[in-house]
Amino acid sequence: MGMYEIVEKKRLELQNELDLEKSQKERNALGQFATPLRLANDIIDYILKNNFFVNETIRFLDPAIGTGAFFSAIINKSSNGNNSKIDSAMGIEIDVGFAEVSKKLWSDYGLQVITGDFTRIDPPQDNNELANLILTNPPYVRHHHIDKDTKKRLVKLIKNKFGYSINGLSGLYGYFLLLSHFWLREGGYGIWLVPSEFMDVNYGKTLKQYLTEQVTLLHIHRFDPNEVQFGDALVSSAIVVFRKEKPTTDTKILFTFGGSLLGPGTEQIASIEEIKNHPKWTHFPTSHTDPVPNYNNETIRLKDLFKIKRGIATGNNKFFIMDKRKASALSLPDEFLTPILPGPRDLKEDIIESDSEGNPLLNDQLVILNCDIPEQRIKTAYPELYNYLKSGELGGINNGYLLRKRNPWYKQEYREPAPFLCTYMGRSSRDKRPFRFIWNKSKAITANVYLLLYPTGEFARALNKNHDLYKSVFEALNRVESEELKGNGRVYGGGLHKIEPKELGNISAINLLDILSSIDFNILNQTKLSNWSRGNI
Ligand SMILES: C[S@@+](CC[C@H](N)C(=O)[O-])C[C@H]1O[C@@H](n2cnc3c(N)ncnc32)[C@H](O)[C@@H]1O
Repeated sequence: MGMYEIVEKKRLELQNELDLEKSQKERNALGQFATPLRLANDIIDYILKNNFFVNETIRFLDPAIGTGAFFSAIINKSSNGNNSKIDSAMGIEIDVGFAEVSKKLWSDYGLQVITGDFTRIDPPQDNNELANLILTNPPYVRHHHIDKDTKKRLVKLIKNKFGYSINGLSGLYGYFLLLSHFWLREGGYGIWLVPSEFMDVNYGKTLKQYLTEQVTLLHIHRFDPNEVQFGDALVSSAIVVFRKEKPTTDTKILFTFGGSLLGPGTEQIASIEEIKNHPKWTHFPTSHTDPVPNYNNETIRLKDLFKIKRGIATGNNKFFIMDKRKASALSLPDEFLTPILPGPRDLKEDIIESDSEGNPLLNDQLVILNCDIPEQRIKTAYPELYNYLKSGELGGINNGYLLRKRNPWYKQEYREPAPFLCTYMGRSSRDKRPFRFIWNKSKAITANVYLLLYPTGEFARALNKNHDLYKSVFEALNRVESEELKGNGRVYGGGLHKIEPKELGNISAINLLDILSSIDFNILNQTKLSNWSRGNI
């Protein structure tokens, strides 16, 4: 075993020890999921194959160095006799434990490690000291783990530096990527292993703007979510490669999907114009298995017939949602209890029948506690409810993420019961659709594991007039193609799909046209439908 192999073996051991010392929650809070060496090696091979540094020595920076997986891969490949030389190497790491390990392992190989928060460190002023290779797997910390003041500071920083208004829902990796701009030399390369969600979601807009305005985007490789790269981090990942140089109108971007960075499953070259305002970059390459939904405006979509909302976020399902029997054992007053459906896993039926009072006819009869009157009144008028709320306060429930912002903390969002539901997330297999539609004949509402579909306008009036139509609508919803559903939603690691109200709204309602055309009412005067009747779609 050579010296490098001994150090790398030690690195893996120490990485393992550090990971084990922490709970999943602590690791999530700092985005501590290491890059597998195999993947880091692939990226270095990719750099070599593309001759990014033929006449130049490398000035390397990893602003989230961890134990130094990427630096290790560079050393590995340069000790294999290739001629790319390392001029300098720097790592930044907020976690003292990781920073110390990196220093210990790699300082003899020339790595300088700064212990600190990358977002608070100023880049070097001297252009010669900037990196020409920023290669990193930044922390994937989600927005709700970023405290309010930090978020404010980062949003302001991005505004000042670029004039961009970054969405507060962005994860920490977004700020990292943008701020690293000032650490990268003109002509230098940025190679980022990031969650692919930014390609599709609204809060990824600023990153996409940056990648199409400030730098020349060269390549995005998306891993197939069914072949998750990280056993312990359930996210689907992409590698984003760019050069720091303003793009031109001729800039072409390579999009690849599946397989590996050097041997992708499918690929497509897209022009900067094509991607600039495209809402979903995961639709490139078009040849990969997800279909490209039809963005033709003339097509009737679900949003033309339904108002779609997500079910309520209770803030603490365990406390607010309970079995009906428990609620009566606690003597909680009926007037503050609303029937609620169990989550999709516990709901076997796709059609929810109802009793004469609107309660769902299910084995699991659940209710949600929903009360918005002041505590003092509860104390005098409903002492049992008061005691239950106090027991919640004792357990600190009122200080939870959502509840501390509510007034009073036990008040719930309001939702009408909806006749049709769609599950919010699910897995798909070859012949199984990722999402289920449910016909809810009861007055039960749902938590945010479902989307609620409320018929609107003329369509709602027609359903009210003729109840037989509900069945046809339900059947039509069930005919929405699996591929159409998948293509509009998002896909996470392990093939987990999610669909937001807007995305469900964009799904074609073409299956409902037969029903609509059989209804004798004015809906055909609505523009989209009249276009359809004229044969434009
Ligand atoms: C996804 S890990 C990647 C580690 C390593 N580069 C690798 O590829 O294996 C992200 C690292 O960023 C560190 N980190 C989190 N927040 C940071 C911050 N604000 N500044 C610098 N490092 C940070 C974490 O402690 C963690 O080690």
